[in-house]
Amino acid sequence: MKYWLVLIAFLSARAFASIDLIQNPDARDSISLNGQWNAIVDPYDVGDKRKFYENAKQETPDQLLEYNFASAQKLKVPGDWNTQDDKLFFYEGTVWYHKDFTVNKKSGKNYLVHFGAVNYLATVYLNGHEIGTHEGGFTPFQFNVNEQLVDGANSIVVKVNNRREPDFIPTMSTDWWNYGGITRSVKLIELNDSYVDDYSIQYVNGKVPQIKAKVSVKGKVAGAVELHIPELNVRQSLKLNSKGEAQISFNANPRLWTPEAPKLYQTELVYAGETVKDKIGFRYVEVKGDDILLNGQRIFLRGISIHEEKPSGAGRAWSESEDRTLLNWAKELGSNYVRLAHYPHNEKMLRLADEMGLLVWAENPNYWGIQFESDVVLEKAKQQFTEMLVRDKNRASIILWSIANETLNTKDRNHFLSSLAKTVREQDPTRLVTAALNTQTTTEYGHKIEDPLASVVDVIGINSYCGWYYDAPKDCANYKWVTEYKKPIVISEFGGGALHGWHGDENEKYTEENQVAVYKYNLEMFENMAQLRGMSPWILKDFLSPRRPLANVQDYWNRKGLLSESGEKKKAWYIMRDWYAEKAESFK
Ligand code: GCU
Repeated sequence: MKYWLVLIAFLSARAFASIDLIQNPDARDSISLNGQWNAIVDPYDVGDKRKFYENAKQETPDQLLEYNFASAQKLKVPGDWNTQDDKLFFYEGTVWYHKDFTVNKKSGKNYLVHFGAVNYLATVYLNGHEIGTHEGGFTPFQFNVNEQLVDGANSIVVKVNNRREPDFIPTMSTDWWNYGGITRSVKLIELNDSYVDDYSIQYVNGKVPQIKAKVSVKGKVAGAVELHIPELNVRQSLKLNSKGEAQISFNANPRLWTPEAPKLYQTELVYAGETVKDKIGFRYVEVKGDDILLNGQRIFLRGISIHEEKPSGAGRAWSESEDRTLLNWAKELGSNYVRLAHYPHNEKMLRLADEMGLLVWAENPNYWGIQFESDVVLEKAKQQFTEMLVRDKNRASIILWSIANETLNTKDRNHFLSSLAKTVREQDPTRLVTAALNTQTTTEYGHKIEDPLASVVDVIGINSYCGWYYDAPKDCANYKWVTEYKKPIVISEFGGGALHGWHGDENEKYTEENQVAVYKYNLEMFENMAQLRGMSPWILKDFLSPRRPLANVQDYWNRKGLLSESGEKKKAWYIMRDWYAEKAESFK
């Protein structure tokens, strides 16, 4: 038993100590390492023993060398490997990436190599030296490379492994494609000797409205950090303590951010010759009885669930233009809210949600059969959640942190998720905690929500597939819902599949008419849910899943999209759009 305690203590310390993430990396001076990388597929993991990371060159003809990055295949970064090479479509295993780059290394500067995300395990080498590892497929990480970086030519190697394991997050089974690779941007960030590392600038709703700013700097502490918000005539000086931290609260009366008027303010942090600019919205969110209040006003979340997949066809989305297309579709549907399922999406997606006026349900992939009995896995869940929290804490659009999706009601799960919820609330008391449940039971009184996790969260998410996985669509209209919990309910998933262009009777699976019936009768049912305060139907567009092989119908596409995999609208799109248009008017 003692061994485990030691291990947990180590992991806890490591987990929180190792969450070293620069805030707003895109605003810093950097060299992009995006583009074409050399790639060696290593299904039997021989690369460690053969020292691929040394990127050895053939010196003499008699030298035995069994790998060579220069002549290896090429892969684009960012990008999943599955959709770049047919041979890798189903591949789960190790791929070694390599890229040469040159840098004019300046003395007195700090250098960080920063990854937006790598799915799932990453080991990074610079000039043959291992500089660090990261676990988790959807959160950023960085390493300081002052020691290993040289002036002039450098060689970076990244070992990526996306093989699923029981003690990973997510674990062995998911209903989405296990896209492997360096799936988000890579950059070498150049910073001054002392620099602003992290900051939060948030609205505090009180008798007198205030803004609370916290900053931390790295390197030798020099004086104070100046905070400017020009449009509010704010010029505040944050005097740093010996640890290089400072916080300040001051009266301010900003125009509050709302989906209808998503006001963002330019903020500037000036320190040691550098100015870090950001765009931040100010708002507050709370729960009162059955209501969700944004800036004190009741709201109804007219949403849609979204996977981070390209707007047309397969592959991990990562670029601003792809994100903008996905979110424009949500706006076109009449949404003021999106559920970014089932994992943290790339940072640009949240910045666009801020800009476009879309509230966000953000989620970490504690999905289905997580090893809830394992304290080591709990530490991983906390680490991955904290990485998302640290990255996105300044995004006004995020109002809900989801700690789980469709998990069994067991003692271990309730302990694990209660502990995670506690950590999330300690780190960010300004947002609401939720989870997508599917533990409701059918009783003579209707669907009964009775789950200890429902008492932990601020907002109850419910996944419910009446008319698709059970019952005929028309049976759904009559269902009632009962619960003891006096809090808001959001339908985090409902819907059904349809192959775009396939038409027939409303009871014929996969016809567009069947999908229309599923939406029509479920929406009738939801009208009777007194505590309903939002929904995010499953899902914006068809997406790839290894669990959906039905030839000529699914072809490995989950067909529950309101849009086809190439963005064509199905008939149910219009049902949902019209319902939201009415809701936008009627919900006061
Ligand atoms: C579940 C799950 C989704 C999945 C969906 C489906 O609710 O949360 O990830 O894709 O059902 O069955 O299509």
